[in-house]
Amino acid sequence: MIEPVIPLLYLAAAASFVLALKWLSSVTTARRGVVIGVLGMALAVCGTLLKPEIVSYRWIAVAFVLGSVIGVPMAMMPMTAVPQRTALSHAFGALAAALVGTAEYYLQTPHIDRFTMSALALEVLLGFLTFTASLMAFGKLQEILPTRPITYRNQNVVNVALLGVAVAAGVYLAVRPETAWLFPIFAALALVFGVLLIIPIGGADMPTVISLLNSYAGLSAAAMGFVLNNKLLIIAGALDGSSGLILSVIMCRAMNRSFTNVLFGAFGQVQPAVAGGAEEKTVRSASAEDAADILRAANLVIVVPGYGMAVAQAQHKVRELYDILTKARVEVKFAIHPVAGRMPGHMNVLLAEADIPYDKLMEMEMVNSEFPQADVALVIGANDVTNPAARHDRDSPIYGMPILDVDKARTIMVIKRSMNPGFAGIENELYYMDRTLMVFGDAKAVVGSIVKELAGGAMH
Ligand code: TAP
Repeated sequence: MIEPVIPLLYLAAAASFVLALKWLSSVTTARRGVVIGVLGMALAVCGTLLKPEIVSYRWIAVAFVLGSVIGVPMAMMPMTAVPQRTALSHAFGALAAALVGTAEYYLQTPHIDRFTMSALALEVLLGFLTFTASLMAFGKLQEILPTRPITYRNQNVVNVALLGVAVAAGVYLAVRPETAWLFPIFAALALVFGVLLIIPIGGADMPTVISLLNSYAGLSAAAMGFVLNNKLLIIAGALDGSSGLILSVIMCRAMNRSFTNVLFGAFGQVQPAVAGGAEEKTVRSASAEDAADILRAANLVIVVPGYGMAVAQAQHKVRELYDILTKARVEVKFAIHPVAGRMPGHMNVLLAEADIPYDKLMEMEMVNSEFPQADVALVIGANDVTNPAARHDRDSPIYGMPILDVDKARTIMVIKRSMNPGFAGIENELYYMDRTLMVFGDAKAVVGSIVKELAGGAMH
């Protein structure tokens, strides 16, 4: 009799999920968090496979092979593509929940009770809308779809009205589940709403939207737990739903934006060009050799990594730079902005991969008071998160976003390939300051050349 083991496996899985979330929230324990999360999921799957309701394993085996064929290459996607990969996995998870809900509806009606039908309606609504919304988010992040917000008149009214009709259909079905003709319409409304929800949101806001969709997928799974009377699904779904929501709130705070602004603000729209042409501004550019000379003479260097460092895969070269400077008794710290890069924790993961000591990574609130004492702020492929306009320019789309105060350092050196803007699509006034030096080039190549220069010349 193997059945009594199932609740124990589920209990162990639930405890593993809680621990995984706890450990994932700190850099030093994150790896452990991943391992226990995987273990928890394996226990959950094993427990489910032991259920006596399963009459044949054949189709489960087919699904297992199919899932692995899709899942393994997805896991190989580069770090920079993690947001779109996450969007795809939410799409699959949400679709699974919505399809299970649909199957249960046709299996259980007309004998379905009102509570189960209410949970089922919520599951299907959230599942289908998260499915199309996540696919749209994937398309925008992968740049298959236009990344700028697409807006039209009364868009928000149309969206709210459509959601209202879908919810009304769900409520009607909960009261009268036998109204079978309404079910496909209900599902279609949810699918269309998912598409319309994402159209007005710009690519720059997609990571926040994805974490919100994560939350919806979790709630859909929790509702599925009520439909199937599966407690583990309820627990895992609730954990997923609440952690996704908390993460979205953290990201909104880090960008000083409200939820409504992210969802309905059409952020990232192309700004109309100022007529008459902007005044000519000049920047000072420097070579890797100049940069090495300045670093050599410094006491405190604060490195500011951004998305460009991630795309260039420059983290290992940055580690070499850290080593050579530290050996020469130059103090090196890393300033981590909560939304630097394209996903939460992006910079932490990359720097950890290159074995940069955790205690050198400093959060924004801690490091900002240190920039005035820094001899050099070395910005590597970061842009928006260093733009002083966020502090004073009320017309800037990033106004109010907390930034790293790199402009307060004695010398600012910026490594990037060109004068092109970052994700928010705006100019960075930091580059035109007297104390700023631009070192143009690919982050990996430039940092590599600086390391070579430092290794060649004598340190102070
Ligand atoms: P960005 O502002 O996007 O700037 C990255 C810079 O890297 C670009 O200006 C680019 O300039 C440079 N770059 C690209 N490839 C490079 C390469 N191979 N070598 C050197 N430089 C390279 O990045 P950030 O400062 O990290 O800011 C993140 C942005 O994403 C913010 O706007 C933030 O609001 C948004 N965002 C992030 C998140 C999360 S959770 N991370 C969530 C929502 C939104 P060149 O083209 O001239 O090289």
